[in-house]
Parts: sequence; structure tokens; C-alpha cells
Amino acid sequence: MSKSFPDYPPPLEPRITQATNTKFGDYQCNAAMAMTKKLGIKPRDIADIIIQNLPSEINSIMEPPEVAGPGFINLRLKTSYLSSAITSISTDKVRCGVSPSLPSRIIVDYSSPNIAKEMHVGHLRSTIIGHTVSNLLEFLGHDVRRLNHVGDWGTQFGMLVEHLKDVNPEVVRGGDVEIGELVEVYKAAKRRFDEDSEFKNRAREGVVKLQAGDEESLKVWRRLCEKSSEEERGESFYNPLLGDVVSALEDLGLAKESEGATVVWTSGEEGEGTPMLVRKSDGGFNYATTDLAAIRQRVSEEEADRIVYVTDSGQGKHFSGVFNTAREAGWVKDCEVEHVGFGLVQGEDGKKFATRSGETVKLKDLLEEAVQRTEKDMRERRGGEELGEEEKETARVVGIGAVKYADLSLNRESNYKFSYSRMLSLQGNTAPYMLYARTRVCSIVRKAQGLSDSDPMSWPAVGKKVVLNEAEEVALARHIVRFGDTIRQVGRDLYPNVLCDYLFELSQKFSAFYETCPVNQAETEEIRESRLTLAVVTNDVLVRGMDILGIEVVDRM
Ligand code: ARG
Repeated sequence: MSKSFPDYPPPLEPRITQATNTKFGDYQCNAAMAMTKKLGIKPRDIADIIIQNLPSEINSIMEPPEVAGPGFINLRLKTSYLSSAITSISTDKVRCGVSPSLPSRIIVDYSSPNIAKEMHVGHLRSTIIGHTVSNLLEFLGHDVRRLNHVGDWGTQFGMLVEHLKDVNPEVVRGGDVEIGELVEVYKAAKRRFDEDSEFKNRAREGVVKLQAGDEESLKVWRRLCEKSSEEERGESFYNPLLGDVVSALEDLGLAKESEGATVVWTSGEEGEGTPMLVRKSDGGFNYATTDLAAIRQRVSEEEADRIVYVTDSGQGKHFSGVFNTAREAGWVKDCEVEHVGFGLVQGEDGKKFATRSGETVKLKDLLEEAVQRTEKDMRERRGGEELGEEEKETARVVGIGAVKYADLSLNRESNYKFSYSRMLSLQGNTAPYMLYARTRVCSIVRKAQGLSDSDPMSWPAVGKKVVLNEAEEVALARHIVRFGDTIRQVGRDLYPNVLCDYLFELSQKFSAFYETCPVNQAETEEIRESRLTLAVVTNDVLVRGMDILGIEVVDRM
């Protein structure tokens, strides 16, 4: 007679995790330990009961489960399952065996620079991380809306508009005069703002006028925004909703008057007891007011199921205040809201990231330098020979890929020391290493197929039988089938470095495989085809993974 649990099912998650060590198999279940107290049964006995009650279908996928230590259940995939999984992935270039999730609508708010200011490295991090997160969620089958919450409305615009009215009165009359580089205009206006208290007051009143829809101010503001091609859905989009947000919060008793201003005292861990200003004493609205209006609109009108905000961790308090207020107001009932924070970008010395003369580094210069250094490396490897057009294109892909990958491969919450030499190194977990490793996979496949020059992404689906005899073949196959788990994990927790680690490990497992398992010189034709299939699938997964990271691949380096 098979043992079974007492009548009530204990309300517990199955708690299946990836095994920490392949010695223990592929997956591990820790549920028995967690249930022992509730059930008053020894964990090893609980583990036995669980095993006896597993559905018989798993026998074709798993080796018989084993109980280990205090009551862990170790699960190991059968080699026969691994082979058939690889064969089927080899016919599925697009999804690489990853089944789509139940689709939901997800808004990813990222990049979000401020129009008048130079886009800085923090915005670069937001752009890189947000882009990857969006790609990944889209790959999982979600309806992803990417929103660039451009700063085009705050206090600085009162300042800019008033300044322009003085130095360029033509603009108010609709004249098509050159207003110069926005960043320079901003600097000049800021200088005045700091030095001249009368102008400071005018700037403050200026933003109130702007938010109230003053025609003259709007005319100047529009000219400022025209200068920026980036505007997607900037803060100004929410202006018509700001007044209503504040009065709704007042009606709910969440916002109160304090010294002429309107303030929300937020609850919740991080923002506890911190007042959040939603209307200044002069009537102007704030960054937080805009975010409250935005969150409300995104849930009610855009019908978002999840909203993800990608900014530096320094804005953690701001977002927990916004989230808590919105929750208390009942605006985010069935919607998950998350702040995906990231650390600072620092120079190699750990200090603020800046040019030699202490200026902020412009994005364009930063990317250009990465490309130029890659070109230089490539020239040196070719004995000083000048690069052709195609090689220059390769350098562009590698250089830009290196900047992105260096950022993504690090736990996003850490501060990140920007180092060209590290990110451009061919050794270690870097884009050049990954891209190079992938070109090796390609050349192996080309050689084996007798195709000297073909686009590996256009190789036909393989679908050949896979034979896993050698330990390295099994290790590679086992890693490949984890692609889906990895993608889903990143989709939940939003740590792109987990995907980078996966891909890095994939290329290492491939190298180990290739060193011990000759493809063309394989003992039999069946094994040759099987190994070729493993190589093709490795390529497909690498390319798909890099594509999610927003990194192009190259066929030669
Ligand atoms: N423009 C802001 C900044 O540069 C980031 C905006 C992030 N998104 C948001 N919904 N608040 O700091």
C-alpha cells in the first residue's frame, strides 16, 4: 500500500530549485524540510511520501528521484530526455525550445533622460537594462509597451522658458530663430537661476504658468521640445491629469495641506514617514505628482498588469513613495509595480565617472571611444594592417556590444566601474569573448557542413538524432535545456546578469565539448551529425541570448 499525506494538503510551494551542484542532479526539492513541523513527520519520510505520489509521466523525463541528507529530493534528467529535447530545440531556431508565458501587458519605463540636460551614463544604464528587460519580456510573449518618460516638464522648464523669453524674445513671437545648443542654454539659465534671486522667483512662477497652460510659455516650451527628437511620452503628457490627482488624494484623505503646500505622508517600509510633495506652495506640481498621474493612467487606461521602472537606485525612495500612495489610493489593484534600480557608474578609480578635465562624459563620445579602441585592437592583431569596411563594421558591433555587455553582466544593483580595457578584453565574461566564442561555433559548423561562407542563422532546421555518450556532451546538452528556466527567472526577477552568466557558461561548456569531442573526425556518421546538431543549437541559443541583450553578433572577428 502506498503511503499518503494526512487529509489536508499543506499550503506550500513545491520549492523546486536548480541543484547547486550537478553531483546532486539537475533539480532539488526542499519541501520536505519545510513541511516537517506542520505534519509532525520526519523530513526523510515526507520525502519518501512525495516520491511515491509523483505522477508516473515523469519516469520518461527523470531518473528515479533520490532522497539525500536530511530530506532533499534530488531529481536528475534522463539522458534520453536530454537528447530528444536537443533534437526538438534544433528545429526551433526562433524560440529555442522556450514556450511562451501567459501574456500580460507590461509597461517598461526606461531611458527617460531630461530634454535640456545632457544624457548621462545613468541614462545609458537605464537604456541598456530597460531595453534588455523589454526584449526578454517580449520574447516570453508579453505585450510590452516601452515608455520613455522624458523629463520635459519640471522646474527646470520654468527656468528655461523664462530665460529664453529674455535672451530670445523672437521665439515668443513665433520667430524661427536659432536658439543654440539646448545644453548651453540650460547652463546659462542655471547660472542665472543660482545667482539672481529675482530670476529664481520668475522661474518658479514660470513653471506654474506653464503647467496652467499659459499660451506664451507653451510657445517657448514647444520650441525647446522640438530640439529634442527623443520625446515619446514625456512628463508633459500627464499635465492635464495633475490637478485631478491632487484633488483625488485630498478627497481620499491621503494628501494634506502643510505650510501652503500639499503633501502625502507615505507609509510602507522604505518611504515611511517621508513627506512627498505633490503641490508646491506656489501651486506648481512635482516629479512625484507626475508619476502618480502616470501610474494611475497606466493602470486605468493602458490596462497594465505590471509596470517596471528602470532608474538608478537613488530613486528608490521616490518610487516606494509613489507605489505606496498609489496602492493606498486603490489605483494599482491588480497591477504589479516594481522599481528596477541600478548602481552608479564610476570611473576606474571608483570616483565619479568624468572626462580628464572633470566634465560629464557624453554618450556619443563614450561609444565612439569603445569602437575606436576595438579598431585599434583589431589592427594590432592583424599586424598593423588597415581595416576594410567590413572589419570596421565588426569593430562597431564589438565596441558597442562591449559597453552594453559590461553593464548587463554585472549585478545591476552594484556600482559599476567603467573600464574600457576590461570590457574590451578577449578574456573573461565580456562581449568580445562571447562574440568570438560564437564565431568559433560558426566556423566549426561551416567546416563540418562544407559551407565556406553562409549565414549561420539561415542554416536549415536540423532535427537529427542526438547521441550523448561523453560527459562533455551531456553537460552541454543539460545546460542548453536550461535556457527556458533562465529566461523565465530573469523575466521574474529582472536581473539580466543571470542571462549573461548563462551564456558565458554555455560558451565554456561548448569549448570543453569541442576539445574532447571531434565533430568531423567523429567515429561514426551518426555521432558526427549529433555533434553538429549540438553545435548548431549552441549557436542558435547564443544568438537568441545576445539578441535579447540587444547585442548584434558577427560571423568573423
Ligand atoms: N527623467 C528622470 C531622471 O532623469 C527619470 C524618469 C524615470 N521614470 C519615471 N517614471 N519617473 O532622473
